Amino acid sequence: MHADIRPARASDIDTLVSIENSVFESDRLNRRAFRNHIGSGTTSLLVAERDGVVLGYALVFYRRGVKIARLYSIAVASSEASAGIGRGLLAAAEATVRANGRSILRLEVREDNLRALELYKRAGYRPIGRRENYYEDGAPALRLEKDLGGSTEQ
Ligand SMILES: CC(C)(COP(=O)(O)OP(=O)(O)OC[C@H]1O[C@@H](n2cnc3c(N)ncnc32)[C@H](O)[C@@H]1OP(=O)(O)O)[C@@H](O)C(=O)NCCC(=O)NCCS
Repeated sequence: MHADIRPARASDIDTLVSIENSVFESDRLNRRAFRNHIGSGTTSLLVAERDGVVLGYALVFYRRGVKIARLYSIAVASSEASAGIGRGLLAAAEATVRANGRSILRLEVREDNLRALELYKRAGYRPIGRRENYYEDGAPALRLEKDLGGSTEQ
């Protein structure tokens, strides 16, 4: 079902925290983290919204002078799962990365998160490594990367 994607605003924080707490069991972003990422020059925080209700988000980190951006987190409210919102957020995050002059997007994902792995695989991400003991509970992460092609920076 259709959702609009736009940069996050301060008024989204309550919903973002509640999505975060409902979908992740550890390594959660808290209220202060979400607040810091709104309007920040070094991150892009995008939300998916339908009829004024925020349904999910994607968060990208940048480093000055570095062509590689990092998809730090992406999440969709479980009531909206499998409706294409995750895919839409990922595509919007990639477009934002390119518009910010970066050409590669990297991410870490739990090795047992088959759902997210399937989303990334279908979107063209390829494995570039593995990190032991990456998450708070000791679970390993797979590192994935996608070459987004030339930047669209004006
Ligand atoms: C991973 C997540 C963002 C996907 O969001 P979503 O809106 O449900 O995903 P979409 O509907 O866009 O589906 C994208 C792809 O995921 C896979 N997928 C979706 N539902 C699935 C299911 N029930 N079983 C297996 N794969 C599934 C499919 O490959 C799907 O592509 P397709 O629609 O072409 O078949 C969401 O499940 C989520 O928030 N999970 C918890 C947080 C999380 O794990 N984030 C990733 C951290 S790295």
